[in-house]
Amino acid sequence: MPRRNLTGPPIADRIEDLRNQIREHEHRYYVLDQPTISDYEFDQLMRELQKLEQEHPELVTPDSPTQRVGGEPAKAFPSHRFERPMLSLENAYSEEELRDWHRRVTQLAGTESVDYQTELKIDGLSVALIYENGVLSKGVTRGDGRTGEVVTGNVRTIRSIPLRLHQEVSVEIRGEVFLSLKAFRQLNEQREQAGEPRFANPRNAAAGSLRQLDPNIVARRPLDFYGYWIHPTQHLQSENLKWITSLGLKVNPHRKLGHSLQEVIDFYRHWEAHRDDLDYEIDGVVAKVNSIDLQAKLGSTSKSPRWAIAVKFPARQATTRLLNIRIQVGRTGALTPVAELEPVQLGGTTIRNATLHNEDEIGRLGLQINDRVLLERGGDVIPKVVSVVERPPDRVPFEMPSRCPVCGSKVYREEGEAVRRCLSQTCPAKLKESLLHWASRRAMKIDGLGERLVDQLVARDLVHDVSDLYHLTQAQLEELERMGPKSAENLIREIEASRSLEFWRLLFGIGIRHVGERTAQILARHFGSIERLEQASQEELERVYEVGPKLAESIYQFFRQRENRALIERLRRAGLPMAADIVEEPKAAHVLAGKTIVLTGTLETMTRDEATTLIEERGGRVTASVSKKTGFVVAGRDAGSKLEKAQKLGIEILNEQQFRAML
Ligand code: IVH
Repeated sequence: MPRRNLTGPPIADRIEDLRNQIREHEHRYYVLDQPTISDYEFDQLMRELQKLEQEHPELVTPDSPTQRVGGEPAKAFPSHRFERPMLSLENAYSEEELRDWHRRVTQLAGTESVDYQTELKIDGLSVALIYENGVLSKGVTRGDGRTGEVVTGNVRTIRSIPLRLHQEVSVEIRGEVFLSLKAFRQLNEQREQAGEPRFANPRNAAAGSLRQLDPNIVARRPLDFYGYWIHPTQHLQSENLKWITSLGLKVNPHRKLGHSLQEVIDFYRHWEAHRDDLDYEIDGVVAKVNSIDLQAKLGSTSKSPRWAIAVKFPARQATTRLLNIRIQVGRTGALTPVAELEPVQLGGTTIRNATLHNEDEIGRLGLQINDRVLLERGGDVIPKVVSVVERPPDRVPFEMPSRCPVCGSKVYREEGEAVRRCLSQTCPAKLKESLLHWASRRAMKIDGLGERLVDQLVARDLVHDVSDLYHLTQAQLEELERMGPKSAENLIREIEASRSLEFWRLLFGIGIRHVGERTAQILARHFGSIERLEQASQEELERVYEVGPKLAESIYQFFRQRENRALIERLRRAGLPMAADIVEEPKAAHVLAGKTIVLTGTLETMTRDEATTLIEERGGRVTASVSKKTGFVVAGRDAGSKLEKAQKLGIEILNEQQFRAML
């Protein structure tokens, strides 16, 4: 954008421009959870603004982004004003900047020997937990650092946060709420299957989850918490961490009490090299002056304490050019656009491709061929395009094909879906992908059945569906390229071995839409055999805990298709497991089985969590809001709007005693 020089001096214009950019990015980051630039780039903008404001103090205004700690609190949650502001940390991007900080600390302290508590910088979001007489009374997000959002209901669903401490003390504990990489991948897998947009990274997923208004949804997201701050304080940060642990919370185990700057540097270097060994994301390490007296002496600026610094790792981001967009056809026939990139180094590997998920994503990014793009390799390992950084004049718009690029049949986009699909039953691309899925580690574990082999099996007409794998002969395999007698024999053995795996693997492997590993396990345990699952009505399926209407419909429809039933029959004849060893006790006997129940108000004799468990143990389900589908409402003390709604809808209402009797 050209700078306007007509209305004022260029410095004032630049400052205004920076402020607007930062405000925009803060809003995207803090309010919408949809950042479009990297933290590093954001910091660069902020630094430039800070520098200009320092040089021109007469231009500083109270509404400048430098004059406050963070973003605006969201609207939907009540707010809480912190007695002690939740500060953020100053960042160092190099060992040199860390040394500068150490020099300042030792100067202000008047001594060379300062002990540092070094911790990992977990890439989640900070939350304050307020305990009164040992009982959790409030969970608050950071908000703008002065006022946060009260998300107690959501925080209570985090299993590693105790509802009662090991001691009856009144304390405030602050720390980081985060999502493990494993949980993040699972969540994204589920969202993809449900046609919902994926979260960009675990941090956004955790933030998005904590801002959910419905704690039931949050409860299904295994958020986690590490504490790092407590008030009232002990004499040392290292003691504070131990105290948090002894109160019953988690403190990250990877930490070091060092007696010199060198130990901080060693810790930083170690974790820069080993960050991928962890099952959660860290974006640096934090060094803190260990003595609380010295911390007090050093004090804080309005933004961050002088006694701590975040030493950030180099970004795993890079920019490169988009050369082309290729279409991949998946197992379900979904057409996925893949970015072909000018090769670029990123986090130690050369990147040539990145997924673009679907056509809406391309639209959202405003992406065209030849654009320069920002790439990021986060916890997802798979690199992704974060944004377009430059739009050259020779850019070419991309259009999704209306025919399958593999078999040529017409593709369809169902209403409410983000993807186009090839619906042909004989599309070789779909067949190949379903064979690879079947053979994968997560399903039938047929090692050695890779892409090259699958290509040949399909091209030579040897395999038309997964059941054909079980009829392959050694002689047929030996005919294939790069297949000696030894490897043919091994593959036959692998295929044989897959016959004796658990039943749920077959359920996952046959590729029912929306059925991931976890759902397959739940279904296997609940129904026990393919016959029972096949006969289940949609209502019965929905009654299974964790199976929603969309999933129930997908499973039901799968078994109504003749070709699917025929495939199962062929697999049965091939000797595959069609039943589980362990079957859950049927829960249909209890009056609560299959009922959807809403809890409201305060119960006297049990906590919400206990009531929920008791209901679930009897086959019922607890939801947050009252609708026509609600079976009944349990109303405790001070029940409010939910009770009113239930009365309006004529839904049965029980008091606590009646509810207990029913249990
Ligand atoms: S100490 C006053 N320790 O990094 C000290 N922060 O901007 C406040 N973070 O907002 C923070 N791991 O969300 C501290 N071990 C750690 C941390 C940590 C992650 C986050 C925290 C904070 C941000 C820094």
